[in-house]
Amino acid sequence: MTPLPHHAAKPPMKGILLAGGSGTRLHPMTLASSKQMLPVYDKPMIYYPLSTLMLAGIRDIMIISTPRDLPQFRSLLGDGSQYGVSFSYREQPSPDGIAQAFVIADDWIDGAPCALILGDNLIFADHLSTTLQNAARLEHGATVFAYQVRDPERYGVVSFAPDGRALDIVEKPTHPKSHWAVVGLYFYDSRVSEFARRLKPSARGELEITDLNMIYLQEQSLRVEPLGRGCAWLDAGMPDSLMQAGTFVQTIQSRQGMLVGSPAEVAFRMGYIDAQQLRSWADRMIKTALGQTLRAIADGG
Ligand code: G1P
Repeated sequence: MTPLPHHAAKPPMKGILLAGGSGTRLHPMTLASSKQMLPVYDKPMIYYPLSTLMLAGIRDIMIISTPRDLPQFRSLLGDGSQYGVSFSYREQPSPDGIAQAFVIADDWIDGAPCALILGDNLIFADHLSTTLQNAARLEHGATVFAYQVRDPERYGVVSFAPDGRALDIVEKPTHPKSHWAVVGLYFYDSRVSEFARRLKPSARGELEITDLNMIYLQEQSLRVEPLGRGCAWLDAGMPDSLMQAGTFVQTIQSRQGMLVGSPAEVAFRMGYIDAQQLRSWADRMIKTALGQTLRAIADGG
């Protein structure tokens, strides 16, 4: 028998959608249901980060959430076949940090490169699919994105050298060294679970995504791509930002007649499903403007 060539095809990138946490900043809305299930205008919040992962070309997706909320996501999203992708589900028993997702999903990742998006991060930009698909093709190292914000102390903050090189990342600094926040969307090579296992819990008892990024930064394999003016990054984690996100989506959709954050539309445009599949999906919600827009897209509109 001929031995397998050493350069056998690399496994495609997988993606984790982390929809955990107790949403304390949105109480009482999240006392009984998940933050990522709350509406952002006409869709559940989780549709938006899900669309982002699918736009990156990722078709094998694991949704990680709390034991309380995971069944809701399963009933909302199913096995993914309606979008021509595959969804798996796994519990995060307690909120022990974002980076813990890579330990929880280790056997499922199974040596593939893997991305992660936070379930409350909404990203809209021109040419976003190209940016994401480039990041999803990485073979070595990691890619993260930075976005200028007014209140950096709420985020992981990256500081840059004059030549644009990232110098360090600090999680929720009291005295931020820059206004560049690290966006909750991360692309890692196949070593990510191994690196996540090395992490020690931080002072707040979590495996920090910032510490994971610092491992890549220290070995000089972390790319930090700034997202500029043409991009909107919103996190819908507080009442005001939730409202702003909804208004933003409503404004674009009603003004342009285009959809934002529709996994069905992305699935169709990416060629994961055909027009007939999109039509039957649209017909399930044909009483809504969303269903009617999807129907028009399926019919070639
Ligand atoms: C997390 C990360 C932080 C990142 C932010 C993006 O913070 O720890 O580095 O900038 O997401 O939304 P959290 O929202 O969990 O406090």
